[in-house]
Amino acid sequence: MVNAYMMQVMMPLNYLGYVYREIRQSLVDMGEMFDLLGQPAEITDKPDAPDLQVEGGRIQLDNVHFSYEPDRPILQGISLTLEAGQTLAIVGPSGSGKSTIGRLLFRFYDVEKGALLIDGQDVRDVTQDSLHRSIGVVPQDTVLFNDTIYYNIAYGRPDASQEEIIAAAKAARIHDFVSALPNGYDTTVGERGLKLSGGEKQRVGIARTLLKNPPILLLDEATSALDSQTERDIQESLKAMGQGRSVMTIAHRLSTVVDADQILVLQQGKIAERGTHSELLQQAGLYAQMWQHQLDTPGVSPSSDHLSVNRNSDNV
Ligand SMILES: Nc1ncnc2c1ncn2[C@@H]1O[C@H](COP(=O)(O)OP(=O)(O)O)[C@@H](O)[C@H]1O
Ligand SMILES: [Mg+2]
Repeated sequence: MVNAYMMQVMMPLNYLGYVYREIRQSLVDMGEMFDLLGQPAEITDKPDAPDLQVEGGRIQLDNVHFSYEPDRPILQGISLTLEAGQTLAIVGPSGSGKSTIGRLLFRFYDVEKGALLIDGQDVRDVTQDSLHRSIGVVPQDTVLFNDTIYYNIAYGRPDASQEEIIAAAKAARIHDFVSALPNGYDTTVGERGLKLSGGEKQRVGIARTLLKNPPILLLDEATSALDSQTERDIQESLKAMGQGRSVMTIAHRLSTVVDADQILVLQQGKIAERGTHSELLQQAGLYAQMWQHQLDTPGVSPSSDHLSVNRNSDNV
């Protein structure tokens, strides 16, 4: 009997200890969360900053210097102009600072020296909200939410109608795939989109960006995680998406940039070469070397139609 009483007393006490530990831990977590929320943002809007007014989407970098850490410069005097409606490609070895230019455009960081202008307005003088609304990004790896395909596309503009979402999916060439699924647009994509293949995920990302319909487009190695066939398919969607917009495209595979109005070769934070594809080939510099290297490497070779374009221009 004594034993039974003891048990009955001990069990709740034991449980109380458990609850006490849980509450303590939760309080600690909450404290950390509030600390995080209390962190002042490094990048803030100026008081009374106006919204960005995009007319054509002309982007200008004027002698931009930038470093993440004080003693390691990343960008050292980058100047470039992307005319409204044109396509500018940035290529170069990994770590040369290509993505950093995109981050600066989005104003995740402020430039150290120089300026970054969109249609003549310094990105530091306008609201971040309007800036982020004007630029659409297709990153290398699109992040999807563990929700339906419909939700993930609609995330580009939550107030879009169903027709608009389906139109965006069609333009991104994913509509047929989605319609063929048993649950259609209500299919859940799984944690971070793991139930979709890389190409499908990327197309959902493109549909999302199309729905957002931004005047400026930033493609950061949007197709480098894909096989060549999928890349070619998606390249079409991307090309269609670029119509009438300013496009800054960062690319790993040179075959994807041959049509760009201007190609910049970035090397160790500086622009080593610039020009069109055929101009750069004629210069026989770094770009020509990279091009030759990709031709020689099986698996990443540019598609055959680009090859013939290349030969023709050589003959001329
Ligand atoms: N948040 C960061 N903090 C410190 N260094 C960074 C950060 N992000 C990138 N870097 C460094 O900046 C350099 C350029 O990065 P990035 O622009 O991403 O190169 P890539 O040309 O491959 O896109 C790299 O050497 C990288 O290590
Ligand atoms: Mg990068």
